Amino acid sequence: MKRALVTGITGQDGSYLAELLLAKGYELHGIMRRASTFNTSRIDHIYEDPSVPERRLHLHYGDLASTEWILNLVYSLAPDEIYHLAAQSHVKVSFDIPEYTGDVTGLGTVRILEAIRRSGSRARFYQASSSEMYGSAPAPQNEQTPFEPRSPYAAAKVYAYSMTRIYRDGYGLHASNGILFNHESPRRGETFLTRKVTRAVARIVAGSQDMLYLGNLEASRDWGYAPEYVEAMWRILQLDHAEDFVIGTGETHSVREFVQTAFSYADLDWQKYVRSTDRYYRPLEVNRLVADCTKARAALDWAPRVGFEDLAAIMVDADMEAIGVKSPGKGKRILEEKLGRWHQWHLAVTKCLQAAQGGASE
Ligand code: NAP
Ligand code: GDD
Repeated sequence: MKRALVTGITGQDGSYLAELLLAKGYELHGIMRRASTFNTSRIDHIYEDPSVPERRLHLHYGDLASTEWILNLVYSLAPDEIYHLAAQSHVKVSFDIPEYTGDVTGLGTVRILEAIRRSGSRARFYQASSSEMYGSAPAPQNEQTPFEPRSPYAAAKVYAYSMTRIYRDGYGLHASNGILFNHESPRRGETFLTRKVTRAVARIVAGSQDMLYLGNLEASRDWGYAPEYVEAMWRILQLDHAEDFVIGTGETHSVREFVQTAFSYADLDWQKYVRSTDRYYRPLEVNRLVADCTKARAALDWAPRVGFEDLAAIMVDADMEAIGVKSPGKGKRILEEKLGRWHQWHLAVTKCLQAAQGGASE
């Protein structure tokens, strides 16, 4: 049985990756940070009580801002694979807390790499690098495109990316960067663009929200479906040689197009409900991201199946059902037809309900 350690297991990607690894028979160790309220809603459905003798999911407390937990865990567990997904991952928030973002998102990676090196671990290491690192570099972007970061988050990720390569080349670690373009799902945090929009669509239909305030509608992103992206992470670590890979769909759409698509899917005229306000603009914007993932398609045999409109339908359906509104239902059918058992509807939307309450901005 392979053993994996996952940081950020309570996040969007961590939760899908946990399901994938458990389905593949792994013993799984997840790192979560201590919070005064429950922060495990995305993994509650796979949680196993510590008293279950044969359980394969184990949770440990740890914070990327410190090192006290890492060395011990890496040394004592001797994991075969480490997926480092934890980060302060919100780009706009990184302008508000740049020092913290640098510490957690940048230095956090070095803390883990050092633990691997010092413990003599043979673990394969995955670094969650980001298309945000390309910043103002012209699209399409691939593994050779130089980074031109435009946010504290992106700068921290470039540092973590570089350190991953330095530990690979300098110390022979099996350490790889997955440079992932935006990927979304019903489990996406409520303050990221797609989820903010699909959640608003559901609430407007339900009559509990009147307007949606957004920032820049002109930026373009290469948006894919998160469960397909965690499959790529796993494939990267199965290669004999550690390498870096760009993962995305190769299609780009503006924020405006996403808004239009999600609202019209629920039969709403977006122009009646959506306003752009300075509050949600960033000091600097990344205008256009488009993945050239030729390398991943060849070396990993990876290609996404869920397209842009499919994604909007999946997310709107999930947010509508979460608050008890009948959805158009196309998203459900897409998941069944395109992804089959892996990410059935009930799994894909787990705990959407809790998240559907409360306010959300940014
Ligand atoms: P996410 O939903 O924001 O999850 C982030 C995870 O990191 C959560 O589990 C969070 O814990 C944890 N975390 C944050 N600060 C921490 C700290 N100081 N110590 C320990 N854990 C901490 O992000 P995601 O969308 O799953 O993305 C996963 C990774 O991929 C991130 O590194 C992100 O930057 C990167 N990435 C994401 C995308 C994308 O489009 N989703 C694209 C490229 C790269 P809590 O649950 O307690 O908050
Ligand atoms: N969040 C948010 N909220 N974004 C908005 C809003 C709004 O009200 N209005 C417009 N946008 C625009 C942003 O300016 C950006 O151009 C785009 O919508 C997407 O924003 P986010 O969903 O916040 O994602 P991101 O592209 O900044 O960052 C995400 O993708 C990166 C990969 O490229 C995050 O998941 C990062 O962690 C990830 O690395």
